[in-house]
Amino acid sequence: MSAVDVLYGPEVEIREAKPDDADAIASLYAWHVLNGRASFEEVPPSVDEMRERMALVSQQSLPWLVALYRGIIVGYCYASQYRPRPAYRYTLEESIYVDASMTGRGVGSSLLTKLIELCEQGQWRQMVAVIGDGNNNAGSLRLHKKHGFEVAGQLRSVGYKMGDWRDTLIVQRPLNDGDWTLPE
Ligand SMILES: CC(C)(COP(=O)(O)OP(=O)(O)OC[C@H]1O[C@@H](n2cnc3c(N)ncnc32)[C@H](O)[C@@H]1OP(=O)(O)O)[C@@H](O)C(=O)NCCC(=O)NCCS
Repeated sequence: MSAVDVLYGPEVEIREAKPDDADAIASLYAWHVLNGRASFEEVPPSVDEMRERMALVSQQSLPWLVALYRGIIVGYCYASQYRPRPAYRYTLEESIYVDASMTGRGVGSSLLTKLIELCEQGQWRQMVAVIGDGNNNAGSLRLHKKHGFEVAGQLRSVGYKMGDWRDTLIVQRPLNDGDWTLPE
């Protein structure tokens, strides 16, 4: 039983995102763009732009999940190719956002558990997350460490947002055999 099950019982559902979810996802993310420290975007993407981002993930057969509480989207996460150059093909980047009013209640953990499970069904070997303003984002760091990520590095002052220089923390975890074996 997950933390979400304990808190909300059957009322919280994790499922694959649908194109019609783009509106709610764009709205949830817009709050983090405008008020949060994690996203390095400064202008919230439109609903159409969000739908295109979701379509790109789907075209790559990668998962985009949403968490619903009483039918309302309260969080989402997805995996994308870490970088386009071919040697990176076994590495994914994960992104996760929970509605600001619903953090710290297990939603992020439930989303990430499912995302890792789905990604381990594929050929991928590493999962990376880039935590914006990582040293001031205890929630994200804790969430990722809890799910097997380790800090791989820190980039200093690579972002400038809301009047401050911002670091990023790069965290990483293996998927499946990681680098213990070579891919087929
Ligand atoms: C990071 C984020 C996705 C975590 O989601 P969440 O639903 O709050 O996470 P959970 O409730 O599942 O908590 C996961 C762990 O982190 C801990 N945690 C959550 N928020 C915390 C905070 N603000 N400070 C310290 N620990 C925190 C929880 O206690 C839990 O650890 P535990 O099980 O050992 O108690 C969410 O806070 C968020 O959307 N933050 C803003 C965007 C962001 O930083 N995204 C990540 C970009 S890489």
